[in-house]
Amino acid sequence: MTTIIDGKQLARDLNAQTQARVTRLAQRGVVPGLAVIIVGADPASSIYVRNKHRKAGQLGIHSVVRELPATTTQAELLAVVAAYNADPTVHGILVQSPLPAQLDERAIFNAIAPIKDVDGFHPVNTGKLFGNLPGHYPVSCTPQGIMTMLHSLHQPLAGKRAVVVGRSNIVGRPMAALLLNADLSVTVTHRHDPQIRDLTTLADVLVVATGVAHLIKAEDVKPGAIVIDVGMDRGADGKLTGDVDFDAVKDVAGAISPVPGGVGPMTIATLMQQTVDLCEWSEQ
Ligand code: GUN
Repeated sequence: MTTIIDGKQLARDLNAQTQARVTRLAQRGVVPGLAVIIVGADPASSIYVRNKHRKAGQLGIHSVVRELPATTTQAELLAVVAAYNADPTVHGILVQSPLPAQLDERAIFNAIAPIKDVDGFHPVNTGKLFGNLPGHYPVSCTPQGIMTMLHSLHQPLAGKRAVVVGRSNIVGRPMAALLLNADLSVTVTHRHDPQIRDLTTLADVLVVATGVAHLIKAEDVKPGAIVIDVGMDRGADGKLTGDVDFDAVKDVAGAISPVPGGVGPMTIATLMQQTVDLCEWSEQ
C-alpha cells in the first residue's frame, strides 16, 4: 500500500502547534511579526504573498505586506529592508523572489539581518546549515517543510540513499544539506546530467525540484521509495501538476506527495513556524 503524504493535513497539524505557541507568547504580551516585501506584480508571486499574509493573520502573527512598484531601485529596496531590520515588531523578513531584472537579488538577501532571515537565504545561515553547526538558525522553508514530511512517516532515514533532482538555492542545495545532516547518503543531480534516471532509480528518498512537468516516470523510481514532488507546473490541460507523473509513480513508490496538496501547504506552514522561532529566539 502506497502512503500518500497529505501535506494539507500535516500543514494543519503544524499550524495548530504554531498557533498554540503564538497564544503562549501573547500571554507575555509578545506578538511575532512577519514582513513580506514584493516588488512588481508577478501573478504567481502575488498569489503566494496573499496566501502567506492570510495564514499569518489566521495564526495571530502580525503580518505586513509591503508592495513596491516594479521600477523600485536597489537603493530604495535596501532602505526598506534596513527599516524592517531596525523594527522591533518585525521578527521575520521575506523578500519575494523573483525580483525585477534591475535588482540584485543576492545583494538584497545579504542585507537582511541574519536573525530576521525567515527564508534562511543569508550566507551566515546557509553557512551554518552546510557546516551542520549546532544552535538555532532559519533554513529555507520548502526543504525544511519536506524534512517535516519525511519525519511524519516515522521511518529511519539515516543510511538511506537520497537523490535530489535540482540544485537551486531555494530548494535543491539546502535540501541536500538537510538530508546529509540527517545522515542520509546524498546525491544531487540536475538538468545538465543526461543520465539523471540512472541516479533516480537508486534513491530510497527522491526529491524532485526541476520545474519540468512529469519529468519522473514510474520506471525512474525504485520500488518502495519515498518520492517528494516540489514541482508547481502547468500540465497540458492548464491544471497545476508536479514534476512527478503521480498516477503512474504512485503504484511503484512506498510513499509519495501529491501536487497540489503536498509540499506547497507545508512551505507556508514552515514559514509561519520559523517566524515564531525567530520571535522566540530573539527573546533568549
Ligand atoms: N519564491 C519562490 N519560493 C520562495 C521562497 O521560498 N522564498 C522567497 N523569498 N521567494 C520565493
